[in-house]
Amino acid sequence: MITRDKTQGMDMLKIKGGIALQGVVRAAGAKNAITKLLVASLLSNKRCVFFNVPNIADVEITVDLCREIGSDIHWDKNEGVIEIVTKELKTTYIPQRFSGSNRIPILMIGALMGRTDEDIIVPTAGGCKIGKRPVDFHIHALEKLGAIIEYREMKKEGAYFARAHQGLRGTVIHLPYPSVGATENTILASCRANGTTVIKNAAIEPEIIDLVLFLQKLGVAIAVDVDRSIRIQPAEEFQEVEHTVITDRIEAASLGMLAISTKGKVFVEGAQHQHMITFLNKLREVGAGFQVKSNGIEFFYKGPLKGGLHVETDVHPGFLTDWQQPFVVLLTQAEGHSIVHETVYENRFGYTETLREMGADIQRFTHCLGSPCRFSSQNYCHSLVVKGPTPLSSRDITIPDLRAGFAYVMAALIAPETSLISGPHYLDRGYENLVQKLTSLGADVTREAIPTSQKSSRV
Ligand code: EPU
Repeated sequence: MITRDKTQGMDMLKIKGGIALQGVVRAAGAKNAITKLLVASLLSNKRCVFFNVPNIADVEITVDLCREIGSDIHWDKNEGVIEIVTKELKTTYIPQRFSGSNRIPILMIGALMGRTDEDIIVPTAGGCKIGKRPVDFHIHALEKLGAIIEYREMKKEGAYFARAHQGLRGTVIHLPYPSVGATENTILASCRANGTTVIKNAAIEPEIIDLVLFLQKLGVAIAVDVDRSIRIQPAEEFQEVEHTVITDRIEAASLGMLAISTKGKVFVEGAQHQHMITFLNKLREVGAGFQVKSNGIEFFYKGPLKGGLHVETDVHPGFLTDWQQPFVVLLTQAEGHSIVHETVYENRFGYTETLREMGADIQRFTHCLGSPCRFSSQNYCHSLVVKGPTPLSSRDITIPDLRAGFAYVMAALIAPETSLISGPHYLDRGYENLVQKLTSLGADVTREAIPTSQKSSRV
């Protein structure tokens, strides 16, 4: 159960590692799919029902956001079902309190623009601090569709003011990079534009394909072409939709890596093979065991792990940047040198400093170790070399962001002593019932309030 009161940041996880995780665990629905699907439902005034909805904080925030706009929502958290209908827009002003919470508010421009003549006012985008994360691709694509977007300072923070008084016109948009968010925003806006839109160099992540499937059911004529183009013809009429959210491939892979790195065996129910091909190839290379079954994937340790890997994160179908952090922890347990080149975000290795303090042998580099990427002539630490295997020792750790947080949990589960991890509310954003899931696999993990005497030094 998620609570988002102020005391939540005062919690900590107490983890005693060194236990081989064993058992069966179910991966939840994908955070990065359902949050966008809820926003996409705002395109129409018809009822939409979503199944396999994870009970995580990012969904709560998105539900709050949609309610703010005027959606009537019923969320059965036990069944993982959300019913949403947005008969009318109550407002097109997204309050500043949603700024900084996640990357969803900026998508409101695409979703709402065709439904209103009012200005849509959206605070600056948030999300994990893993790079600059600008929204220029979103803005340029929406402007090409006919939107007028201005950035204005409001009180302490800025906001985008977007309108399309003349309506949006379908066109050809070439994205400079296959950005997930920019592709989603452009698709959403195109669903109510006049005429056909073609997005070239679009992102084709499984979460985007889930959005495409949903939109097709909603009434939009939408196609994904072989050359990374997405073609959208607006809906003539919207229909009611029932949609089952895809499984979270980040959570599924992360739980699998946890099983392997603790020398255990875990069946991850619901893990979808087709979304994890690149990851499973790397697991095979590192000498880990997995078996794909009809309703999930079993991950197991089958002997010493082999290093010597070269991992480059990339857009789909490449190695997902959100698999990178637990994979680096896994590589600390593999024999030999491995290279990891992060090409999606320029600043996603900050967490490795803590891993080094725990005993990992990791060296970071500003140049590209591998094919030159967008960050090659810039001064970002975006390549690293891991030398393993190294024992990891326990630490008191503060989580800086969602995926780094999981890497720390994994490192703490490998280390044989007790680690205290503060900031578990970051994990609540994307992992459903993490403590319960880990405990069910035999892990020694508890979530406790930080004693008052320690609060100032930890939070
Ligand atoms: N970029 C720009 N300008 C833009 C948009 C993106 O320069 O207008 C750059 C970003 O700075 C980044 C790269 O393009 O360097 C990729 O960004 P993208 O837009 O693809 O990412 P996103 O939509 O912000 C989503 C997920 C991320 C996931 C990435 C890549 C959500 C809410 N977030 O982010 O997930 O890592 O795609 O697959 O869907 C997470 O779940 O922890 C997470 C960070």
